[in-house]
Amino acid sequence: MEHKTAGGMDASALPELDDAQFRQWNELLESRIGIVIPPERRAFLATGLRTRMREIGCSDYQHYFDLVRSPGRGVPEWSVLVDRLTVHETRFFRHQESFALLREQVLPDFAERGGERVFHAWSLGCASGEEAYSLAMLLDDELGARFGVMGTDVSQPALAIARAGRYRARRLEGVPESYRARYFEPEGDGLYRVSEALRQRVCFSRHNVQHLERFRLQGLDLVFCQNMLIYFERATRTRILDGLAGRLAPGGVIVIGPGEVLSWTHPEMERIRFANTLAFRRRADT
Ligand SMILES: C[S@@+](CC[C@H](N)C(=O)[O-])C[C@H]1O[C@@H](n2cnc3c(N)ncnc32)[C@H](O)[C@@H]1O
Repeated sequence: MEHKTAGGMDASALPELDDAQFRQWNELLESRIGIVIPPERRAFLATGLRTRMREIGCSDYQHYFDLVRSPGRGVPEWSVLVDRLTVHETRFFRHQESFALLREQVLPDFAERGGERVFHAWSLGCASGEEAYSLAMLLDDELGARFGVMGTDVSQPALAIARAGRYRARRLEGVPESYRARYFEPEGDGLYRVSEALRQRVCFSRHNVQHLERFRLQGLDLVFCQNMLIYFERATRTRILDGLAGRLAPGGVIVIGPGEVLSWTHPEMERIRFANTLAFRRRADT
């Protein structure tokens, strides 16, 4: 289908992004959400832009650039574009070793230290919610009802799926059988919904991690942040991790994906040694 803009240009015949345009879009993406698209993924950026521009009948990269930066229409348009240019791939219990670390070390340590305290966890870059619900199932199983999970992401459509907590049967593959029976309710047509009781312990909110200062939660026991930092430059990863360290309760833990940062250190944090994981604990005396 052809889209004609007001100027009569054909939006289906958009040219390739040139170097200056690629730089301009990358700078905007990095400054707003931290994401840097490497040169070898230029085609991904161009396809995302072109697809969206065709949908709205815009045939000029500069017009579209000005549109997403405009104060009125630019706000919802930016939100749609961000959703298109971010990767939302996720699974329940995606990185099994990280969940084993929680079950075998972090939660027993907390139970020993925590007395009757509620365990507060944050799934950062939670996409469509599988990670946040995986944490909730594990916490419910290990700690009973004394926990809360907050999931945040920059993508509104991903958060809408997370809030509904409804997934196709094949998406439940990574969920242990006993958890499936306990925490999911069949809804027919191959759909399963996270049980009401578990959903009540998990809430979701839109948050851009580039603006950590706008997220008010403090005293967290766990920040679980996997497969998001890899899209950011090294200095950005370090800045975000420094900020996250300051949100932890003494003894609180950050779990990221193995290899997501190479050499992060922080005076108040110590590395947790557990096979094939990358995790840090805030020293109990800080
Ligand atoms: C690949 S998914 C990871 C999902 C989940 N953590 C996992 O490991 O399965 C990365 C998520 O990070 C989110 N994201 C990217 N940039 C972000 C930002 N600046 N602030 C918050 N979320 C962001 C994306 O929208 C996406 O849902």
